[in-house]
Amino acid sequence: MIAFFQPKTLRGKRMLITAGPTFEAIDPVRGITNLSSGKMGFAIARAAQEAGADVTLVAGPVHLPTPRGVRRIDVRSAQQMYDAVLPSAALNDVFVATAAVADWRPASLSDHKIKKDGNKVAPTFELTENPDILAAVAKLPNRPYCVGFAAESHDLLKHAQEKLVRKNVPLIVGNLGPATFGRDDNALMLVDVQGHRELPQADKRTLARQLIEEISKRLSHS
Ligand code: CTP
Ligand code: CA
Repeated sequence: MIAFFQPKTLRGKRMLITAGPTFEAIDPVRGITNLSSGKMGFAIARAAQEAGADVTLVAGPVHLPTPRGVRRIDVRSAQQMYDAVLPSAALNDVFVATAAVADWRPASLSDHKIKKDGNKVAPTFELTENPDILAAVAKLPNRPYCVGFAAESHDLLKHAQEKLVRKNVPLIVGNLGPATFGRDDNALMLVDVQGHRELPQADKRTLARQLIEEISKRLSHS
């Protein structure tokens, strides 16, 4: 009902969103991943759809229902997420990167389960860096309005400001974890070149709506 009366501030806009963690396989039965429920990204997809946007959600492995009217692409690894995002990113008006992308993946993938086999020495794994999806989209010639997220354990403002510059994006949304991961509420800090502003503790649905309104305002001014 609320959605029905929500102003359609994103009517005619296309939004691409990444959400959830990525999973980087070591062998067929194990891998490395990040802590992320995907709830914030899914809430943003829902709020954007309710605000009239045409929304595509690229989701890592999560256990969440697809918001109504949202196009969903399921992926597992960071490379798959990159491949799902990059070709169509510039066709969008907005790109919101909420995904907790694994920064590294095992340099080689074993096609069989690595066995203990009575070895006394634990295996070691060489890691290689994954592509930075947000930074790559931000470098596109006809780039969409890019919003990055920064989940930090400390010094939130400092790290968010540093990411704003390093990724060359107009808006970074910071939040402190890991206490907030998987929960239904959170507090966000919006960081741009002008300064920073807090969206105080609220459920993720409310925060998603507030963030969508912020993004709509910024789009209409850009
Ligand atoms: N991101 C991405 N692709 C990656 C890594 C990060 O798209 N390979 C995006 C995230 O979705 C988020 C933003 O970049 O929107 C910041 O991610 P974060 O992990 O906080 O930053 P990093 O640059 O990876 O730095 P670090 O993990 O060292 O803090
Ligand atoms: Ca990272």
